[in-house]
Amino acid sequence: MSRTTRSSCSRSCRSLLGLLLCLTLLLGMSGCGSGGDEAPVLRVGVALYSQDDTFISALVQHLERLAREEEQQRQIQIRLSVMDGGSNQTTQLEQVDRLIGQDCDVLCVNIVDRTAAAVLVDKAEEADIPLIFFNRQPVAEDIARWEQVYYVGARAEESGTLQGQLVLRSWLSDPEVDRNGDGVLQYVMLEGEPGHQDTLLRTAYSVKVLTDAGVSVEKLAGESASWKRGQAMLKVQQWLPELGEDIEVIFSNNDDMALGAIDAYREAGLTLPVVVGVDATEPALESLRNGELYGTVLNDGKGIAQAMMDLILALTDGSDPADAVELVEEHYVWLPYRAVTLANVDSVMDSGT
Ligand code: BGC
Ligand code: CA
Repeated sequence: MSRTTRSSCSRSCRSLLGLLLCLTLLLGMSGCGSGGDEAPVLRVGVALYSQDDTFISALVQHLERLAREEEQQRQIQIRLSVMDGGSNQTTQLEQVDRLIGQDCDVLCVNIVDRTAAAVLVDKAEEADIPLIFFNRQPVAEDIARWEQVYYVGARAEESGTLQGQLVLRSWLSDPEVDRNGDGVLQYVMLEGEPGHQDTLLRTAYSVKVLTDAGVSVEKLAGESASWKRGQAMLKVQQWLPELGEDIEVIFSNNDDMALGAIDAYREAGLTLPVVVGVDATEPALESLRNGELYGTVLNDGKGIAQAMMDLILALTDGSDPADAVELVEEHYVWLPYRAVTLANVDSVMDSGT
């Protein structure tokens, strides 16, 4: 089948699906599917950069739960095809080709290499399948290539700023943080993957809060541990013999790496400095409650999944996406971050991140 034929076929299938979904909604819970008719099927392709990522796997679980809830409420079937890119852009491109070949109605892509989005946008446009990027933000020019492209995520600089504010508060309120009493804050930085927007902006904005507030800082070390707990533990183990007693604050671009740093200190039997992360994953909130992790910043995976589901439904039932989610510059949905410390950890845990 030629590309044009397949793409116009997929277009008409999707508008047919839209019509069926609308009818289901209009007729209410009892209407459409009476007499044993199958509920209409909504096919959603979900391509992940790596399923082996604590934050991403939790986000996908939220998406799967929401799909089950919407199936009940709308009397439709939602088929999520989740693919693991294994941190390889070539693999992910092949997976997206496969999802397009399966005639999915919407594509959700957590892109491996955020500079490689243009080719994906062009593939989606050619097949006329709306495309939702999430968590890993392509450059603005790529998002602007087609009107049916969206990005759902949180503003990286906001998480950096909130993390910096947590550290500023502890520096100003507790003289013990300045271990060597020299009035300068000595820190190390555990960075996520190079080139990721959250790595670049969290690293810059967290420290900017301190320098803007007039605090003198000294960076003792900083390296990427690719978002991973094990890698972060190894890095910190390498730093400890030389820097151990000098480190006053450990900034980590995410919680998994902060927990890796804590593992290294625990194993070495050393007193922990102030350690801060981002995400508010369940193990991080546990660590915070145990008095190890000083603070974190809630990265709202649940909210991201909800906004994605709202967009998916709007894009396929013929309604206006702008009525379903708060769209900024026609393409973006931004979820807010939230600082988490011992003071509010229980309420955050109750809301089930
Ligand atoms: C999260 C990290 C995660 C990364 C994956 C970030 O927003 O904070 O924990 O590994 O996204 O892209
Ligand atoms: Ca000091």
